[in-house]
Amino acid sequence: MGHQVQVTEQLHDYMVAHGMPLDDIAADLVAETQQLGDAAGMLTTADQAALLTTLTRLISARRAVEIGTFTGFSALAISRGLPEDGQLICLDASEEWTSIGRKYWERAGVSSRIELRIGDGHELAAALDGSFDLAFVDADKPGYIDYFERLVELIRPNGLILFDNTLAGGRVVNSDGPADRREFNAHIAKDDRVDVVMLGIGDGLTLVRKK
Ligand SMILES: C[S@@+](CC[C@H](N)C(=O)[O-])C[C@H]1O[C@@H](n2cnc3c(N)ncnc32)[C@H](O)[C@@H]1O
Repeated sequence: MGHQVQVTEQLHDYMVAHGMPLDDIAADLVAETQQLGDAAGMLTTADQAALLTTLTRLISARRAVEIGTFTGFSALAISRGLPEDGQLICLDASEEWTSIGRKYWERAGVSSRIELRIGDGHELAAALDGSFDLAFVDADKPGYIDYFERLVELIRPNGLILFDNTLAGGRVVNSDGPADRREFNAHIAKDDRVDVVMLGIGDGLTLVRKK
């Protein structure tokens, strides 16, 4: 087997600088989020954001859904990959956190593409209708199997469902590691409706392609 590089903090910064570095709007969003203290640890990473924009463009997504928006960083990345008349529906329980994101979506000129729905992610996901090209899930981890089962119905063939934090800091390999992620990873790995690729980016990003 080939060599697997260890991504140190320095190497991560290098990769971000040589990939798609944050522009002023995204950097200001991150800076404001960091003022929240510990909660800022929930932010999607910069390299994940670059990948989200690129994947959105690659599959020519027009309609996307995000579950777990927080202060709008990943939503900014996805919406930037959508065409002018594209749509991103964002689901989150927090009015307070998502209101931070709205300002930056406005500044980036993508707010007309984003529809924010506040409430429980599972209830809101159950109420979604129509077909989606791309979904990004970054909310309650014990709910991932439920979100997957709902989204796999809504995603078009060759569409993508992305799940964050699937490596849980690397602890998923331990038998006493987080049961929710271990069960979720095993659940989708044996599902014939999808192809699954786990990427060691951020805290682990799983790409699920609907067949
Ligand atoms: C890790 S953060 C999302 C980070 C975000 N993707 C970003 O780019 O920074 C998780 C978010 O999920 C939301 N959340 C957690 N459980 C939820 C639920 N059951 N329903 C709706 N939102 C939920 C929280 O309010 C929080 O904003």
